[in-house]
Amino acid sequence: MKHLIDIKDLSTDEINELISVAKDIMSNPDKYAEKCKRKKLATLFYEPSTRTRLSFEAAMMELGGNVLGFSDATSSSVSKGESVSDTVKVVSGYADIIAMRHPKEGAPLVASLKSEIPIINAGDGGHNHPTQTLTDLLTIQCEKHRLNDLTIGVCGDLKFGRTVHSLIVAMSRYKNIKFVLISPKELEIPEYIKKDVLEKNNIEYIETNDIEEYMGKLDILYMTRVQKERFFNEEEYIRLKDSYILDKQKLENAKEDLCIMHPLPRVNEISVEVDDDKRACYFKQAKYGKYIRMALILKLLEIK
Ligand code: NCD
Repeated sequence: MKHLIDIKDLSTDEINELISVAKDIMSNPDKYAEKCKRKKLATLFYEPSTRTRLSFEAAMMELGGNVLGFSDATSSSVSKGESVSDTVKVVSGYADIIAMRHPKEGAPLVASLKSEIPIINAGDGGHNHPTQTLTDLLTIQCEKHRLNDLTIGVCGDLKFGRTVHSLIVAMSRYKNIKFVLISPKELEIPEYIKKDVLEKNNIEYIETNDIEEYMGKLDILYMTRVQKERFFNEEEYIRLKDSYILDKQKLENAKEDLCIMHPLPRVNEISVEVDDDKRACYFKQAKYGKYIRMALILKLLEIK
């Protein structure tokens, strides 16, 4: 039985296969409409979510399956003190697959050790978010038609942004990838990502706090929200929250075929005036999330 806890759980071939199944689903949705008949997905969300939970639920429904679960831990037995392991053991008896989001790093991994059904990490604290990364890879493949030869600017909260960590890990296996890491000093990328991922794989990267400095070189600009819920100090959050606001003027030197991404939710990082720019891909990106999750559910349930 396979879980998806970390994007590293998938080989490059498996990722490519998921992307090609997702594309096939987009072109032939009817072919997949009954693939998960009588199967159930449980969404155990101990932390807020809109896109991830709803796209998982929509994905299972479009495969002909059903969904159950909770979107707020206070409405479940967690509020009575039940452990994640016990909850998962019980839910294993009710569902066929679980998508779990948790504020604690490593909680889905712990859950997977006790689970009798596949567990998908739908975001664990400031650590990882592998299904967002699959969404991002499908977006890049569909919008740029390649996963190699890309200069990727990642901007915002690189310290706590779990989508950034998973994306860098995933992209570091493709050829000729360069990163421009744009953040204030306080929100720089963690050392382990630099040492164990970027440097270990000989990936070129530059760190800067200036969003415009390398704008003209970027193929992708991945904006992120400052992760309020991971701050210990509200004053620090207020000081840093508007560090970067992408607007039309900042895009003046950008390439014509730049792809602007954002995992969403957006707070202030992208001015709404950018939404009409043909390079804005973030709402499309959210749509791609449903298709790649459909492909992932099929894979983990071993449905052809
Ligand atoms: C992201 C997350 O939860 O990490 N959202 C999402 O799943 N699309 C990004 C964020 O919350 O900033």
